[in-house]
Amino acid sequence: MAEFALPKNSRIKQGQRHASPQPGGAMRSFRIYRYDPDTGENPRFDTFDVNLDECGPMVLDALIKIKGEQDASLTFRRSCREGICGSCSMNIDGKNGLACTTAIEDVKGEVTITPLPSMDVIKDLVPDFTRFYAQYASIKPWLQTVTPAPSGKERLQSPEDRQKLDGLYECILCACCSTSCPSYWWNSDKFLGPAILLQAYRFLADSRDEMTGERLDALEDPFRLYRCHTIMNCANACPKGLSPAKAIAEIKKMEVERIV
Ligand code: SF4
Ligand code: SF4
Ligand code: FES
Repeated sequence: MAEFALPKNSRIKQGQRHASPQPGGAMRSFRIYRYDPDTGENPRFDTFDVNLDECGPMVLDALIKIKGEQDASLTFRRSCREGICGSCSMNIDGKNGLACTTAIEDVKGEVTITPLPSMDVIKDLVPDFTRFYAQYASIKPWLQTVTPAPSGKERLQSPEDRQKLDGLYECILCACCSTSCPSYWWNSDKFLGPAILLQAYRFLADSRDEMTGERLDALEDPFRLYRCHTIMNCANACPKGLSPAKAIAEIKKMEVERIV
């Protein structure tokens, strides 16, 4: 499995160590990336000791406990705590994932947590999704039609056509895949990346959408689509078990089939 951890001897300095207010029991250290642009200081790693006997089982539980009891300035995103909203995506022990669905017991030893790789950092574990969301908007992620809905009612879909959206609609836009993709690291200004391309295919695969040609025209570009070199990091990184690489391959197939 591809891993992207900052090495322990990276040039990022070690910062403060915070002792647990509840020492004893099953202690575990969390080494967390800290960056606050307001201070003008370089990033650092702070270490927090947490008593797991007093903590919930997931990495997000530990982050919430640290923020509540040891350092209120620790900043991260979270909302649903159920693996649904995609907010708590981060790099945990070298692997992109969701803090709310990653069990602490599945990480051995000290737990190193950094923001998603390659994105600018706003503060601590919060990456800047501005470009990612602009790329999402660029693929027009909504049903586009030209014909009126039959009898003015909803547009129906056969069960078989609905099934074609399985493996696509479940995407929670967490960006774990895109930020594990080397092509996206180097060309995120031009390559749409696996998450957005999976979303693009979600509408290409929808039998109710009537803008297939226009959507394929918009994607046919040496960078937007074809910077994917099928390295497959994206499928390994997805916490929902989706395969953006497969969706990208389907788009490439559609592009070829409309030429021949
Ligand atoms: S398969 Fe394509 S999109 Fe996925 S990680 Fe590799 S290059 Fe990136
Ligand atoms: S495909 Fe998976 S990893 Fe990528 S954004 Fe969607 S849910 Fe996250
Ligand atoms: S808090 Fe919503 S996915 Fe983790």
